[in-house]
Amino acid sequence: MKPEFDSIVASARAAFGQAGTPAELENAKAQFIGKSGRITELMKGLAALSVEEKKSRGAAINQAKQAIEAALTERRQALADAELEAQLKAEALDVSLPGRIREPGGLHPVSLTLERIEQIFASMGFDVADGPEIESDWHSFTSLNNPPNHPARSMQDTFYVDIDGDDGIPYNLRPHTSPMQVRYAHAHIKRYAQAVKRGEPMPEIRVIAPGRTYRVDSDATHSPMFHQCEGLWLGENVSFKDLKVVFTDFCRTFFESDDLALRFRPSFFPFTEPSAEIDIQFQSGPLAGRWLEVAGSGQVHPQVVRNMGLDPEKHIGFAFGMGPDRLTMLRYGVNDLRLFFDGDIRFLKQFR
Ligand code: DAH
Repeated sequence: MKPEFDSIVASARAAFGQAGTPAELENAKAQFIGKSGRITELMKGLAALSVEEKKSRGAAINQAKQAIEAALTERRQALADAELEAQLKAEALDVSLPGRIREPGGLHPVSLTLERIEQIFASMGFDVADGPEIESDWHSFTSLNNPPNHPARSMQDTFYVDIDGDDGIPYNLRPHTSPMQVRYAHAHIKRYAQAVKRGEPMPEIRVIAPGRTYRVDSDATHSPMFHQCEGLWLGENVSFKDLKVVFTDFCRTFFESDDLALRFRPSFFPFTEPSAEIDIQFQSGPLAGRWLEVAGSGQVHPQVVRNMGLDPEKHIGFAFGMGPDRLTMLRYGVNDLRLFFDGDIRFLKQFR
């Protein structure tokens, strides 16, 4: 090939090599084999030559053109390869990374306790009831023989809502589940009235009411929100003796141990007379020998039975209120109540 054409091919190769994108490459191509490219111009120049010259020069130009086209194809391929390479790199999937595991959830330890409490009392014929956490003053206090200004109210300092009830006293976040005693009786009052009318034996009330309760209190063993479970058994002749049997049975079943002592310690609650705190004592294990308070209890006060709309001569029995959080701490050996409400997964997953 003539040096003239050699240098054109060389500069075409250089221009193609510098093109970094397909668009740049097409621009470079136009300079050589486009409509007014250098090769095209040379072709046009052939017209003025003799037949002999046309032949030899034309063949040489054609050769140069083919060399340029080959260089173009080569560069196109190289650019396409580079683009594919970059794309593969960007979309690369590191299959050696550990996968994302979905861990199965589980019930909260206090929920496990509540389920357990419900099962055990259901097996003893107790109904399970649910009630509001925002309560009227009457339900939380007055109906339970705890009138305004009674000093016993300070035992249950709670939170108040910015809305007054019908009595002009603000609603409260219930400080205990005891209002459920009265609510449950009211909910079933028709049934009792019908029994009286028909001269049938008075239906018993046998219910537990677990749920959330609130008090102005916060330390390792008190939380402003905590749980209680109320129990109530009223019948013609239900006595403290029955309370003792029922509660002892419950504790032994709950803790899966017959090696458990119970103590009823005289106390005061406005809604019971007499009243007692219930303490339990493990005979073995890490807590052995210590008396641990688990519930308040007593014979339901006649005034409370009257507030239920019932006759205290016909509905006699006991009530208790226990702390499921405390029972959970004892059962699992948890020493700080706040762990139950922090939502720390490292703690909670141990109960799964
Ligand atoms: N409501 C009481 C409290 O929160 C606990 C209690 C005591 C409930 C005696 C009762 C009961 O039903 O009879 O401290």
